[in-house]
Formats: sequence, C-alpha cells, structure tokens
Amino acid sequence: MAKLFIDNIEYDVPDGQQTAEACETAGIPFSCNSGVCGTCQIEILEGAENLNELNEEEAALGQDRHHRLGCQCKILGGIVKVTY
Ligand code: FES
Repeated sequence: MAKLFIDNIEYDVPDGQQTAEACETAGIPFSCNSGVCGTCQIEILEGAENLNELNEEEAALGQDRHHRLGCQCKILGGIVKVTY
C-alpha cells in the first residue's frame, strides 16, 4: 500500500493504482478525466520517482516529472507528496 500525501493529508492508495480517486477526495478539480483539460494539475513535492512515467497526454500539456495530471498518475509504491 502506497501513501499519497495531498497538502499533508494522508491517503492510502494500493500500489499501481491511479491517484485520481484520492485527488478528487482531496478536492482537486477534475473535468475531463482523460488528460485533456489540465484542470487536475498537481505539483509533486516528493517521491516523483514513485509515480509512473509521464504519458502522452501529460507530455502534450507540457507537464514534467514534478508537474503531473492527477487523473493520469499511477502511484507505484512508497510515499508521494503533492500539492495543488
Ligand atoms: S481532469 Fe482533465 S486533465 Fe485531468
């Protein structure tokens, strides 16, 4: 079980799962849920290496390893700290 901290609030996320559900619970705005609109952008403060690689949708929106889309990230394990 991975730990995702969103603005210092801890969420348990099963290894390999999308971060979307925890992000939505934390109040991060979502719209398209498919990596197109960019409203769910999060800043990775710690643990960027514990997320999946940037996908095509994120690259198309100019994201990088520390600026990701909450609807497109998967947490691989360990601890990830983000803010939005
Ligand atoms: S909700 Fe649209 S890019 Fe994530």
